[in-house]
Amino acid sequence: MERIPATLIPGDGIGPEIVAATLRVLDGLGGPFVWDEQLAGMTALEQTGTPLPDATLESIRRTRLALKGPLTTPVGTGFRSVTVALRKEFNLYANVRPARTILTGGRFEGVDVVLIRENTEGLYVGVEHFVPVGDDPRAVAESLAIITRPGCRRIAEFTFDYTVRHGRRKVTIVHKANILKAVSGLFLETVREVGEAYADRVTIEDRIVDACAMQLVLHPERFDVIVTTNMFGDILSDEIAGLVGGLGLAPGGNIGTGAAIFEAVHGSAPDIAGTGVANPCALLLAAAMMLDHAGRAPLAVRLRTAIEGTIRDDAVRTRDLGGDASTDAFAEAVLRRLG
Ligand code: NAI
Ligand code: MG
Repeated sequence: MERIPATLIPGDGIGPEIVAATLRVLDGLGGPFVWDEQLAGMTALEQTGTPLPDATLESIRRTRLALKGPLTTPVGTGFRSVTVALRKEFNLYANVRPARTILTGGRFEGVDVVLIRENTEGLYVGVEHFVPVGDDPRAVAESLAIITRPGCRRIAEFTFDYTVRHGRRKVTIVHKANILKAVSGLFLETVREVGEAYADRVTIEDRIVDACAMQLVLHPERFDVIVTTNMFGDILSDEIAGLVGGLGLAPGGNIGTGAAIFEAVHGSAPDIAGTGVANPCALLLAAAMMLDHAGRAPLAVRLRTAIEGTIRDDAVRTRDLGGDASTDAFAEAVLRRLG
């Protein structure tokens, strides 16, 4: 099998530790990627004077595929968010967040949901301003949500294609079209239109966002794929991570026209960096998503099965999941499962 060229960004804080563990496990899968290692974040700022060096952008432009460790964003400096810069540069319009029950015996069983969030439009476009009234310069605040038909069509096509390719059966369109008749209405209408071509393979339903938030904690097992706009997706994607045990198990993918970048949902965890106790699972699951994306589904399945078996059946768990395994011991246990 040909090896897949990809960019590797170890990142900050616990990033290098969980990246090292992930590389060891991937070696056990036969080393499917050829890595081009690049810098970003604080580490890049310290070594090159910029948080996002041109060499890193050029590498991703070439490979169109990256695995990224968490990056520390300093608060209150001129440092622009690397995440935002990458999203703009590679037009990363789809944020994909799967959540699946691994640890049983928790509050929820049988959760297996993928949330697809439109990541470039909506209320987060940042078109906002204050309106002065009398002597109060900030008496009124206005913010504009922008939704375009091509933007809705693009995320809808991505969603239905993803659903079919991953053998999933149902798409729930989440919106607030009863109140936001224009911005949310256009989204609902356009996604439904695109869905017509898939109606023979995919069940399509829609939910109002508030009702959906409640349904997700009452009956999360009823959901399969959810597609929604930027801010609703931001909120619901953290909610579904919480349904299956939190940050240590939550991977994410950012898919665009220029590249696809996979990462753990959590941050650089400065409080535990350097202590060897970080859970590498979220990044390992991100690597599995990356294998799926690169057309290596059988390897992705092997990796996920080994991770789940390690946590569930071997009961090898890091501290955040109530165990006492170190980052390295966890990677070792997954490697043993890969055989
Ligand atoms: P965080 O996700 O780094 O940490 C929150 C809590 O979860 C901490 O107690 C941490 O120890 C724990 N935690 C996180 N990942 C863990 C893992 N793999 N294993 C065990 N425990 C884990 O969020 P926080 O503290 O708000 O942010 C720290 C830094 O990370 C900030 O600079 C923030 O900007 C950045 N960040 C970066 C992200 C990215 O690059 N994708 C995403 C979120 C935050
Ligand atoms: Mg968020």
